[in-house]
Amino acid sequence: MRVLSGLQPSGTMHLGNYFGSIKPNFEWLGKADENLFFIVDLHALTTVRNPDDLRKFRRDALLDFLACGFDPAKAIIFYQSDVLEHTELMWILSTLTPMGLLERAVSYKDKVEKGISATAGLFTYPVLMAADILLYDANVVPVGKDQKQHVEMTRDIAIKFNNEFGDTFVIPEPQIREEVAVVPGTDGQKMSKSYGNTIPIFGEEKDIKKAIMSIVTDSREATAPKDPDTTITYQIHKLFLSGTDAAALADEYRNGLMYGEGKKRLFEAYLDAFGPMRAKRAELEKNDDLLQQIAADGAKKARLIAGATMERVKRAVGLIG
Ligand code: ADP
Ligand code: TRP
Repeated sequence: MRVLSGLQPSGTMHLGNYFGSIKPNFEWLGKADENLFFIVDLHALTTVRNPDDLRKFRRDALLDFLACGFDPAKAIIFYQSDVLEHTELMWILSTLTPMGLLERAVSYKDKVEKGISATAGLFTYPVLMAADILLYDANVVPVGKDQKQHVEMTRDIAIKFNNEFGDTFVIPEPQIREEVAVVPGTDGQKMSKSYGNTIPIFGEEKDIKKAIMSIVTDSREATAPKDPDTTITYQIHKLFLSGTDAAALADEYRNGLMYGEGKKRLFEAYLDAFGPMRAKRAELEKNDDLLQQIAADGAKKARLIAGATMERVKRAVGLIG
């Protein structure tokens, strides 16, 4: 079984990315026969237009994953743009992707509504994602709920290709973790880089503390009972806790735990969970050669798989053989 996932280097990674994507994906490490993880820098070009930003975000993403426990000895990690087959397959897939399928993409509409330029790249984003997945014969794709439609589109495209050109692609399954389906941001909306409501995974301790302290609360009496289901601090804090500890914290909120105290505890939980990763990241950050080596090794391994798939695809459509 092969498990694969990609993450856009389009900003600073936050707790939504961690609990919604990085952590569930890492849980597959060791369980799957092969695990691939890539930094989708070509996708990021649809939103990041500043080259210095992109350079920083790409490197940060690699550092973040390694710090969060991604072991390059157990899995393949690489930059999407280092494996040219992604764009090559994207073109071939785009020649049989119905416009109607892309027009139904919720994510495209959302992004345009948010003010992102409606470019051809943004519109065909799901086709590049389909290429990312199909190139590696992935069986399982762990993603957040918002990406489910993209994986379903990948399945539709793969099925269409297989019907027209014969069995070529493995049909992938999305794997959604319902219990962390949407991590709320400091304002209670979905935590997202584009809403300015994130709590970053890494970065200056004081900035993280500031973000946690800025979590929106209502103006009830300090010691009044609070409903944990509508308390944003609790909704974020519970992600760090076991079921029993989360239930105990929920009771404390019902019994009037003060918001300020709840936030302080959330910050402590954050430091407990991410402290060791923060230390590891600080070490890795000093070793640029190692980072480049890891990315180059990953790309080399990925190219071997991608190259074999492309040969199959080109044969199927009549570009070779
Ligand atoms: P952002 O909304 O910050 O731009 P992305 O769209 O780049 O984040 O998401 C990257 C990955 O992280 C996706 O797999 C997505 O499902 C997951 N993710 C992002 N935000 C959240 C969230 N608030 N809750 C759960 N998962 C999330
Ligand atoms: N579109 C995904 C996101 O925004 C990132 C992504 C690109 C991806 N290619 C992928 C995720 C392949 C899983 C598999 O989060």
